[in-house]
Amino acid sequence: MKTETTTGMNRTGMDMSPIDAKEVIAGATVMPPSSAGDESAIANVLAHYARRDERVGTMPPPGTLKGAVKTALQALKGEAPLVLLDKLGERLAFERAGSRLWKAVLAKFDALGSFEGGPTREEIEQIYRDESDHFLMVATVIRHLGADPTAETPLADVHGVASCGLIKVVTDPRTNLADALEAMLVAELTDNDAWDVLIDLVQGLNDPNIVAQFQAARAAEARHLMQVRTWIKASLQARADGNGMMASA
Ligand SMILES: [Fe+2]
Ligand SMILES: [Fe+2]
Repeated sequence: MKTETTTGMNRTGMDMSPIDAKEVIAGATVMPPSSAGDESAIANVLAHYARRDERVGTMPPPGTLKGAVKTALQALKGEAPLVLLDKLGERLAFERAGSRLWKAVLAKFDALGSFEGGPTREEIEQIYRDESDHFLMVATVIRHLGADPTAETPLADVHGVASCGLIKVVTDPRTNLADALEAMLVAELTDNDAWDVLIDLVQGLNDPNIVAQFQAARAAEARHLMQVRTWIKASLQARADGNGMMASA
């Protein structure tokens, strides 16, 4: 199987044509930009729209907050309950996306197999199950706090947009398992960081059960990150050894 290390007809570099390269460099020094002004015009347009005070979304009004549930959130002061629910909505969306991403990695594995030192099918499946469990656990916590887990919060939206590149990499038919793992490293780094923040935010709830569940999720994310880092290292080694992808075991 060909790997991306295979030398092919990549013509993107200027060195492909040294004669034209000289002309391109000479042209760049004599040709003015195609339009007047500098990058400040772009910044001005961005600033103009940013000042319109429109957010990517709003928080839904609180649902029917009942008894114990209400008490839990009331332990937090000021806007803190909304901040927590926004971050929980973000985590819910990201864990759902994470489980779908790992499912897509599994499909890539089934099509192409692994590489020396790469993941086994069981290891990918285990991470997929962890992410699905995290998703369901966060949904339960949101419900427990009296909010609606089906509502998309502003931060859920922000992270959804931020991670669309990962989905593109993992589902691109031209990428292999190692490429997909490069994208999953970005997801797992975010996972690790986000759980740390959430664990901080729920300290104020005085609900040791939630803290314990979040810490367990954080521990799982630390394992995922370690695994993905190890696999990426192994994939680079396999490519360096001229042994990019091999058939499934
Ligand atoms: Fe997760
Ligand atoms: Fe993860």
